Amino acid sequence: MSFTIVEECTARLNRSEQAVPGSNTRFLEKAAQGTADVVFLDLEDAVAPDQKEQARKNIIAALNDLDWTGKTMSVRINGLDTHYAYRDIVDVVEQAGDKLDLIMIPKAGTASDIYAVDMLLTQIEAAKGISRRIGLEMIIETALGMQNVEAIAAASPRNESLHFGVADYAASTKARTTSIGGPNERYGVLTHPDADGKRDYHWGDMWHYAISRMVVAARANGLRPIDGPFGDFSDAAGYEAQAMRAAVLGCEGKWAIHPSQVDLANTLFSPSEAEVTQAQRILDAMAQADRDGLGAVTLDGRLIDIASIKQAQVLIKKAAEIAGRG
Ligand code: GLV
Ligand code: MG
Repeated sequence: MSFTIVEECTARLNRSEQAVPGSNTRFLEKAAQGTADVVFLDLEDAVAPDQKEQARKNIIAALNDLDWTGKTMSVRINGLDTHYAYRDIVDVVEQAGDKLDLIMIPKAGTASDIYAVDMLLTQIEAAKGISRRIGLEMIIETALGMQNVEAIAAASPRNESLHFGVADYAASTKARTTSIGGPNERYGVLTHPDADGKRDYHWGDMWHYAISRMVVAARANGLRPIDGPFGDFSDAAGYEAQAMRAAVLGCEGKWAIHPSQVDLANTLFSPSEAEVTQAQRILDAMAQADRDGLGAVTLDGRLIDIASIKQAQVLIKKAAEIAGRG
């Protein structure tokens, strides 16, 4: 280990992160009855400008009056470049701050963006006697945000998670796509011709670098990396594939922009029974290796060593968190 110890943020299950527009009271009521680990009540891009004030009022009422037991509650404020943002923070936190776990900052661009929100939150919490510190989740969804992702991740002790906002990221980087997440048939490689002159075309994942970079910044600062939206909510298999490749890279969860995606995310970001069993076998084999004075042994014809213990512990710990919640 480095002499620098990475401190983990507040532990929370974050397999699914459901987006609910604050302008729709029926959706707010339905989300309260749902099964998402984290719900973010949206004041930003799912709310039209002339509905912003009403959405704020709806969200304050929803936080105070609906039963959100078992869920982590977040509010996505408007961007810090808009005149809505300060009142989003002041009104929501003053009037419902004790019901709120997190504030989500969209289009985080620099560490100073986080500093500014931290400053406001600190004042409101002190003035209102809110004893539970509100955490922060940042959407990395601009070229500027990605350029500064390490500094953003380290900007405040309130920080809990980084989210890959694929739609705005595509717009900001001027990527040639109009879909929200998902693969792109135009991003791929053409193989060399084989003996018969046949060539294959393999699709790649155009978001790979961006997500990987965000995962590293998040983990190096003890935060949760979360994959963002997948717009085609009628394509469950497509969602599952996107979620699984994010999980494989280290993401802890994925957004659900439709209620049908919540349970898909909860399942995909829970270690399967087979994974937990295999992780336990690795721990058992390494415990035996320890008793035998060995650092590395063979299990099922493959080398495992002390790093394998850490990999296995990640899965076992996650499974225990999920079981604890159940
Ligand atoms: C989320 O906000 C996104 O832009 O993808
Ligand atoms: Mg966005």
